[in-house]
Amino acid sequence: MAETTDSSCVYKNPDAPVEARVQDLLSRMTLQEKIGQMTQIERSVASHDVLTDYFIGSVQSGAGSWPFEDAKSSDWADMIDGFQRSALASRLGIPIIYGTDAVHGNNNVYGATIFPHNIGLGATRDADLVKRIGAVTALEVRASGIHWTFAPCVAVLGDPRWGRCYESYGEAAKIVSEMSSIISGLQGKPPEEHPNGYPFLAGRNNLIACAKHFVGDGGTDKGLSEGNTIASYEDLERIHVAPYVNCISQGVCTVMASFSSWNGSRLHSDYYLLTEVLKQKLGFKGFLVSDWDGLETISEPQGSDNRNCVKLGINAGIDMVMVPYKYQQFIEDLTDLVESGEVQMARINDAVERILRVKFVAGLFEYPLTDRSLLPTVGCKEHREVAREAVRKSLVLLKNGKNDDKPFLPLDRTAERILVVGTHADDLGNQCGGWTKTKSGQSGKITLGTTLLDAIKAAVGDKTEVIYEKTPSKETLASCEDFSYAIVALGEPPYAEMRGDNSELTIPLNGNNIVTAVAEKLPTLVILFTGRPTVLEMPVLEKTEALVAAWFPGTEGQGMADVIFGDYDFEGKLPLSWFKRVDQLPLNVDGNFYDPLFPLGYGLNCNSG
Ligand code: GLC
Repeated sequence: MAETTDSSCVYKNPDAPVEARVQDLLSRMTLQEKIGQMTQIERSVASHDVLTDYFIGSVQSGAGSWPFEDAKSSDWADMIDGFQRSALASRLGIPIIYGTDAVHGNNNVYGATIFPHNIGLGATRDADLVKRIGAVTALEVRASGIHWTFAPCVAVLGDPRWGRCYESYGEAAKIVSEMSSIISGLQGKPPEEHPNGYPFLAGRNNLIACAKHFVGDGGTDKGLSEGNTIASYEDLERIHVAPYVNCISQGVCTVMASFSSWNGSRLHSDYYLLTEVLKQKLGFKGFLVSDWDGLETISEPQGSDNRNCVKLGINAGIDMVMVPYKYQQFIEDLTDLVESGEVQMARINDAVERILRVKFVAGLFEYPLTDRSLLPTVGCKEHREVAREAVRKSLVLLKNGKNDDKPFLPLDRTAERILVVGTHADDLGNQCGGWTKTKSGQSGKITLGTTLLDAIKAAVGDKTEVIYEKTPSKETLASCEDFSYAIVALGEPPYAEMRGDNSELTIPLNGNNIVTAVAEKLPTLVILFTGRPTVLEMPVLEKTEALVAAWFPGTEGQGMADVIFGDYDFEGKLPLSWFKRVDQLPLNVDGNFYDPLFPLGYGLNCNSG
């Protein structure tokens, strides 16, 4: 039962200053209530009893964890509001904050608008567009009842062998910093006068953001996921810390610690970086959340000494722990550590103050439940148009015309017959890439959207025949003279995290052979769907007329047709260096040896050929 319904208590007064509400509520909390706020569990273990018995402060959906498969936004809102009512029934009625990886739209939820992954957004160089993407994403995520997204990833890319390359906006800290504008779109712009530099997230149209993964996740040696970033502090600060300055200046409310290490020191237990740099030097006032089971990365072998990991992680500066299943063990360990004095109450109070501060500025005490009037925004035309614009601006034209021939693009949309082939021409899952529906993503018709093939058919003239074959047949290849030109769509299958770590970086799925077979017979445009640069062997480079990097564009395939048929010109510029050979890696513009196939910033348009 709530302790008091009397609105005289300061923390329940929406007109009281945030810090006064924080201190008033903190003063009323028991140790168990405080530790509960620091505990984040996964939705699959959340129940009324767990939420109330353990005073749980946060619930999250791991990628691919849904109320049920293809659940709609309203189903999500029903589930999350159910959790929230349990939390509100607790003694102090502190609302939960519910988080998920909405990293390119509300990508766990069926029918949501899916935007290009960050590497494509980095190619746009359009901070205003990215901010608008944040604003529309916030509406669709809040429509599903979720309050918090574990985004943006502001990793500065060091090596494309990293399986999370596509989650980065690119290899230049400046580009990444500029694209962090998504935070102002997600959270709303902080009013100048706000005492904490935090945006008062008016109503339920805004979404708490999370800059991740602090720090140096994109700079690990050989691009190994969760690996080791070897750098002087000066280089770490200049390259990897820099984007967090922009994030904090926009009032980012949360930061996630990185699984990686810095010069052998695990980030999750690095007091200097988590507390002295992030919280003291940069002045971050929100809360720092661990990554998934992140405290376990502190011990070797991982998970070998949980109690000590909790001690090291919390004392280093972690405020909320993404447990996400073993919450009893975590709560027991932390309670014991506080009672033994190994974790000071001052550290607990600092963590809980930060968590409460975010919940107050997020308006969760005033608006704990979903605003169902937002449901019509999910996948709406206006949002898909924003995504289509992002697709247009993200495509990078790498080649247009053989030798000194006239430009090949824009394509003739009145051609008599067009051949479209490849694994990525008519596959929405391949078009969206990882972190879509599930963590690794899935090929096939996984949600609502427009494939490249759909878009080509809609763009060409009524008399134009479009023939599609996923793999070109012998008969088709034997009768190529019937076609005006071919479009070959290929690339990487969906992947995420270390499953995407790759030291070869060749075009998979027999891509080069398909290109060769077609390009030897027909004028050919190749569209590459990859999360990063790949090895471009001579057939792709020499035998084709044109080459476009589309990255993982998401659900709005019309954006590709818009530029290849000339309704819009190409604007995209490479957000990273395109290597010639993998033995050149890491290859960065500010590195000592720079001999790329296409340099950072490269990108043609149809007028420039
Ligand atoms: C993952 C990722 C992180 C994500 C978290 C929750 O392992 O490292 O980016 O936000 O777990 O899904």
